[in-house]
Amino acid sequence: MARRVWNFSAGPGALPLPVLEHARDELLAHSDVGASVLELSHRSPAFEALIDEAERNLRELLDVPQTHRVLFLQGGASLQFSMVPMNLLRSAGAPAAYVLTGSWSTKAIAEARKEGETVVVWDGAGSGFATVPDTLEGLAPGGAYLHVTSNETVEGVELPPGFEPPADEEPPLVCDASSDFLSRPIPLERYGLLYAGAQKNAGPAGLTVVMVHEGLLERIPDGLPSMLDYRIHAEHRSLYNTPPTFAVYVLALVTRWLRDEIGGLEEMAERNRGKAALLYEAIDASDGFYRGHAAPEARSLMNVTFRLPNEELERAFVEQAAANDLVELKGHRTVGGIRASVYNAMPLEGVHELRGFMDEFRERSS
Ligand SMILES: Cc1ncc(COP(=O)(O)O)c(C=O)c1O
Repeated sequence: MARRVWNFSAGPGALPLPVLEHARDELLAHSDVGASVLELSHRSPAFEALIDEAERNLRELLDVPQTHRVLFLQGGASLQFSMVPMNLLRSAGAPAAYVLTGSWSTKAIAEARKEGETVVVWDGAGSGFATVPDTLEGLAPGGAYLHVTSNETVEGVELPPGFEPPADEEPPLVCDASSDFLSRPIPLERYGLLYAGAQKNAGPAGLTVVMVHEGLLERIPDGLPSMLDYRIHAEHRSLYNTPPTFAVYVLALVTRWLRDEIGGLEEMAERNRGKAALLYEAIDASDGFYRGHAAPEARSLMNVTFRLPNEELERAFVEQAAANDLVELKGHRTVGGIRASVYNAMPLEGVHELRGFMDEFRERSS
């Protein structure tokens, strides 16, 4: 096998090795059709079976209620920044409320403002986006919807499990879950709409999963471009045009792996807690050598962000880590420092390696 490193990329991120091996093994000929999955028509029975399986697996893993449609779209989570307000704000007659927790929610609100009236109902800018709200309840009475970003990939802050207010007491909850999708169970019945780019926990780039309560489809104004109208995609079961077929196939494999090899999202969440704890412990035990960006109660289990005493040491950390096969650890250019993304596919062993390197680097450098 070609050499593989421990890949802490924030996205596209590491994929489970068994998934890559499976895809490699059947790349030339998919099951008994005699052609590659890359060569299958999206209208063929073999591909229909794959897209059905992808949806079935997602429904099973996340316990998606029958009220919610599962859509496989393109354009990245970034297109959802526009599609959400085009579909749900234009004809709502009330402003949309946004919770501003970091770089991605900042982008989401900038796009929403182009579509209609929006209000920021919670703003973490004052803390340098190191914190998250204690509760969402009562933040947006009567609004068109309340938009949150469950995990801010750049800053490394995450809303805690169970942050969702009960659906019947609040405006529809809309969530950008791109970077913690499938990392833990979520009570989807409390969501109006959830979207996630696949390229962190769910598969390759090019696919965006949207889960939307069918009641919200009735709100969509007529006349939207077809490709930007959730109703069209729902009516055509995500086959209105050619979907990203290979990405859907890999999503089917990743969700199979989560169910059959990991044992579901409770187990995945337990493993993710253990992995992140190893790194946060290293930060907390470093006598201030490593300074975590996130406030302890806002710490992300997916993206662990921290600074070192100076930028020279940060550069040395990234370089020497790479020499030890620990790669993609440089923080996002807007926050600097180090970011270790420990998505589902990063095994505990890789996190142990990084933890060992962190302890050893600190001893050598402080
Ligand atoms: C939380 C979050 N939202 C949105 C995006 C944008 O996703 P895309 O590049 O798929 O448009 C990202 C990408 O990293 C992200 O992490």
